[in-house]
Amino acid sequence: MLRDKARRIGLTVLLAMVAVTLCSCDTTKQWIRSGPAKTEMSRSAKPFGTTPDGQAVRLYTLRNTQGMTAEIMTYGAIVVSLTAPDKDGNFNDIVLGYDNLADYIKVSPYFGAIVGRYGNRIGKGKFTLDGTAYTLATNDGENHLHGGLKGFDKVVWDDAPVDRSDAVGVKLSYLSQDGEEGYPGNLRVSVTYLLTNRNELRIEYEATTDKATPVNVTHHGYFNLTGAQRNILDHELMLNADRFTPVDAGLIPTGELRPVEGTPMDFRKRTVIGARIDNDYEQLKFGGGYDHNWVLNQKGDGMTLAAEVYEPTTGRLMTVRTTEPGIQFYAGNFLDGTITGKDGVVYKHRYGFCLETQHYPDSPNKPDFPSTILRPGRVYKTTTTYAFSTR
Ligand code: GLA
Repeated sequence: MLRDKARRIGLTVLLAMVAVTLCSCDTTKQWIRSGPAKTEMSRSAKPFGTTPDGQAVRLYTLRNTQGMTAEIMTYGAIVVSLTAPDKDGNFNDIVLGYDNLADYIKVSPYFGAIVGRYGNRIGKGKFTLDGTAYTLATNDGENHLHGGLKGFDKVVWDDAPVDRSDAVGVKLSYLSQDGEEGYPGNLRVSVTYLLTNRNELRIEYEATTDKATPVNVTHHGYFNLTGAQRNILDHELMLNADRFTPVDAGLIPTGELRPVEGTPMDFRKRTVIGARIDNDYEQLKFGGGYDHNWVLNQKGDGMTLAAEVYEPTTGRLMTVRTTEPGIQFYAGNFLDGTITGKDGVVYKHRYGFCLETQHYPDSPNKPDFPSTILRPGRVYKTTTTYAFSTR
């Protein structure tokens, strides 16, 4: 009896000790996550050149209390650089791009830009809305891609500083005029970039219109969590999606929502990107690798975990959360070594990947997909965060 009681007390003490240890672990994690201030939260802006038509461009530098920085310019609302710590606390720039404006203007596969009015493709650049047929600029074979010939990635945005209690940011605004690239309605759009003290790049999108129009705005950052040391094939990816939208040879969705189960599109468990990318699955042939939209397992209409990417050598983990119903995972298949980026690094095949949170491609022509139509009097509002930590 006595021995039993002693054993029970021993067990209780042990459990209490485990609980205390777990608790303090948790606190440590919290401490690492939000941490005491290592640097001052700050924002500065400086001139970053002029466009060929004479518009001055500004470059903002945001810094959070953890030492992370983001450089954002008013041309294309482009994230020019983003630094994040590795598991030893070393900061590297983990996005692809250029170090000067002229190179962005010369040729850029949407490096770090905001794409719109409609991110991704609209088949044949045509759609009918409320009985009127519209024809958009085509810039991807016979299709419309990322807003057309001069999309949101190629215009200069107005800028205003934004301060939040736990973040520093900049709000970029643009008036996309009625008829621009073929779209109906004057669209007032804003994108607020915030660098939070929890090491997140938070992007808040808003838009209003004076005529019904499709809207699907997203961020086209190319990430490489090694800091562009090598290609991204060894990164491990998780996509919180049971289904994806298969495409035809022109990368336009067929309308089907296909289960990922049993296909190389299944990233429900974290999987090395390169493991199945060259598989002869027909969908991978169409995209030259991954260049597809996944249907997120959404919970309500709040923020949903969309993706996680882990890079084992640096220990960097990127977590993507969004209010959007879909995500385009593009594995940098069109990068081919013809572009030399920041610090003279040649961006070879698959040197960066994109995770573009969005509504599904070609929704204006797919009545069964969630609607992308914004009407006068309504406000388009979406949010996406890219959070950085280490394991
Ligand atoms: C998106 C598209 C790709 C490609 C890249 C830019 O991710 O889906 O097909 O156009 O942008 O090169």
